[in-house]
Amino acid sequence: MFDKKTIKDVDIKNKIVLVRVDYNVPLKDGEVTSDLRIKSSLPTLNYLIEKKAKKIILISHLGRPEGKKVPELSMKPVAEALKKLLPESKINFVDDVSGPDVETAVETAKDGEIILLENLRFYAGEEKNSEDFIREIVDSTGAEIFVQDGFAVIHRAHASTSAIAKCLPVYAGFLLEKEVENLTKVTEKPEKPFLFILGGSKVEDKQPLIDKFIDKVDDIVVGGKIAVDGYQPDNEKIYVAEDFDEDSEGNKLDIGPVSTHKIVEKIQNAKTIVWNGVLGKVEDPAFATSSTIVAKIIGENPEITSIICGGDTTGFVENLMEESKDLKYSLVSTGGGASLELLCGKELPGLEVVEDK
Ligand code: 3PG
Repeated sequence: MFDKKTIKDVDIKNKIVLVRVDYNVPLKDGEVTSDLRIKSSLPTLNYLIEKKAKKIILISHLGRPEGKKVPELSMKPVAEALKKLLPESKINFVDDVSGPDVETAVETAKDGEIILLENLRFYAGEEKNSEDFIREIVDSTGAEIFVQDGFAVIHRAHASTSAIAKCLPVYAGFLLEKEVENLTKVTEKPEKPFLFILGGSKVEDKQPLIDKFIDKVDDIVVGGKIAVDGYQPDNEKIYVAEDFDEDSEGNKLDIGPVSTHKIVEKIQNAKTIVWNGVLGKVEDPAFATSSTIVAKIIGENPEITSIICGGDTTGFVENLMEESKDLKYSLVSTGGGASLELLCGKELPGLEVVEDK
């Protein structure tokens, strides 16, 4: 259960609402190439519009500009992507986060309009968790309510995730609620049988998950580069892929049919699945076979509680969902580090400061 206050617990009508989103999205040639994080913020934005918020001001970071203005990391293309997803709303972009331009933009925007401010990390105060920095944003915008909906950044103690609580009460948006609820459910009360699918390349990132979940799961299956590199299981619940597909030079780039078949059998038996890390080199379609089979079987069985997390896995599943509209998952998590830290039971500064119920 989510025991924090959400936007449903506060009167939105006629209020200036400041919303922290995580629009740290991939860009190529000045265009957004994956809008999962933007789309995932729409339930909150639509609710604020429906409840007649006076103005909706969005803040986010993009990349790691380290306190400097880096033109390639401007939020401007993100404003364009948001316009496409919310064609009925006016979206204004301001190339600053506080000061006269922001004040004018807020004053001149009509009721119900959205204003997206520039990249928070162009200013050192954001990562320094500076109260002065975030207070300037609150003062310039006249914000009366703060909504935390940037799930993917709540593992950082930054001004827009932590110090903000010294300026305004913090309420959760629907994305934050959905992510935390789903991820907490599998850590606390997973319906059994519970299967954990692990792939990817860095064993040091995955070992904490194995350690945390080994007593809760019925099975852990390991594929991806970790399996290729010879991961040695130390528990009978762990199955490591046993055969691989190779390229012409003998590089093992996907798990093979025998391993895929064994994983599929476990999926068909499971009631809860967490999948973190692709099973092969999915950017090459020739080696995306096992991940495609696994993603389809899970997505075609919506009675399974399924959580897809980790940037490579969610990107892969998102592309498949574009092609096959019937695939359904309980949660395709927008968080990379944030989901992993939540699953591993770490404290999340951006969640701690949300008002308790
Ligand atoms: C992410 O992409 O994981 C979040 O936006 C956080 O970004 P960061 O790792 O640069 O803090």
